[in-house]
Amino acid sequence: MTAADPDARMPPGFRRDPVGRLLIAGRPAEAWAEDAGETPLFVYDMGLVRARIAEVRAALPAGVRLHYAVKANPMPDLLRAMVPLVDGFDIASGGELARALAAGMGARHISFAGPGKRDRELEATIRAGAILSIESAGEAARAIAIATRLGLQASAMLRINPPFELRGSGMRMGGGARPFGVDAADAAAVLATLAHPAIDFVGFHVFAGSQNLDAAAIAEAQALTIGLVAHLAAAAPGPVRLVNLGGGFGVPYFPADRPLDLAAVGAALGDTLRARPSILADCAFAVELGRYLVAEAGVYLTRVVDRKRSHGTLFLVTDGGLHHQLAASGNLGSAVRRNYPLVNATRADGVRETANIVGCLCTPLDRLGEGVVLPETKVGDLIAVFMAGAYGRTASPEAFLGHPPPAERLAGSAPVNPVRASGTAL
Ligand SMILES: Cc1ncc(COP(=O)(O)O)c(C=O)c1O
Repeated sequence: MTAADPDARMPPGFRRDPVGRLLIAGRPAEAWAEDAGETPLFVYDMGLVRARIAEVRAALPAGVRLHYAVKANPMPDLLRAMVPLVDGFDIASGGELARALAAGMGARHISFAGPGKRDRELEATIRAGAILSIESAGEAARAIAIATRLGLQASAMLRINPPFELRGSGMRMGGGARPFGVDAADAAAVLATLAHPAIDFVGFHVFAGSQNLDAAAIAEAQALTIGLVAHLAAAAPGPVRLVNLGGGFGVPYFPADRPLDLAAVGAALGDTLRARPSILADCAFAVELGRYLVAEAGVYLTRVVDRKRSHGTLFLVTDGGLHHQLAASGNLGSAVRRNYPLVNATRADGVRETANIVGCLCTPLDRLGEGVVLPETKVGDLIAVFMAGAYGRTASPEAFLGHPPPAERLAGSAPVNPVRASGTAL
């Protein structure tokens, strides 16, 4: 393979058949499109998700719980397939709560973090028996009032805005003024309010950043988190039963990105946990991962509807775009636009040509690939944009310009040897 090989950046787990068609979970991309009856569509390969979860399980110290952050991809079939594979779901809205419960995740294994929880979301969470990750003194007071009115106990963790960040993260969620969690300096005061009969105190939640490919930075943040929580535990209204260490495990979207050294993260966490302060001797630890579990398993398939040249540049115009796959267009929080890996899914052979691949929206922001080398591509060919399993449909402005929503398909969802770290309720 050379840098000009159009398939050079195809993520592991994808290949072509002998006539050059891209296979997704062993089936040609065109067959997935026929099955959906339309393009564009997302296809998620559950076999790849399962393999990734097995890798994470093997790398993490025994007993560390693996939670899936539903925000990365809340497709109902995918959530159902995830339930037997992970130890909990982390959710960020009342809508995700409904999806998590409908998928069959036990309420005790669901935790709800996110700023701006409305009263009805707090109530639904408390009624369901799921865990609230409390983000502020005001939210603590509202949760106590609602639980008291309902005559129920609210399971609650305190989310801390740590005084450190996860170095080198795509998105920083700690270390400074943030709308997420309670500043570590203010935690003792909020913990005092949680010493209330309407609260069942579960533990602490710290999420310092995401999309990080540096194992040493993740290990450092985990060690700092455990130190911070051990310090705060003395002021907790009860024993700390669970510490959610956050996640931040990143995936390689771009050519210069190197995959995360998962074994190094796991080994360092093992060392940190073995040396942890005695106040945390008996509690469970969890990591919450979104994109790391699902991003590389997803493909966005869109069909070329037009070929045209402008000032000498070839444009392949597709029926998809940023309304389905905002992240690939570069408009979901990236300073510099770079191409996600993409290929012609219909053919591998043909004279090479360089093209800009655009969507069907009338905005210059709607770019799926710029200066991409492909075999000569015809109207009707399918383009496959990889890394589409996380923050694809769910993080895109689907209503923009009134195009239909994309189809979604889950491949290979029959469960094989589900493994859980622990099935016990907290
Ligand atoms: C609290 C929380 N948990 C989990 C995630 C998932 O992050 P990722 O998909 O990068 O693993 C996020 C992302 O912003 C988050 O804010």
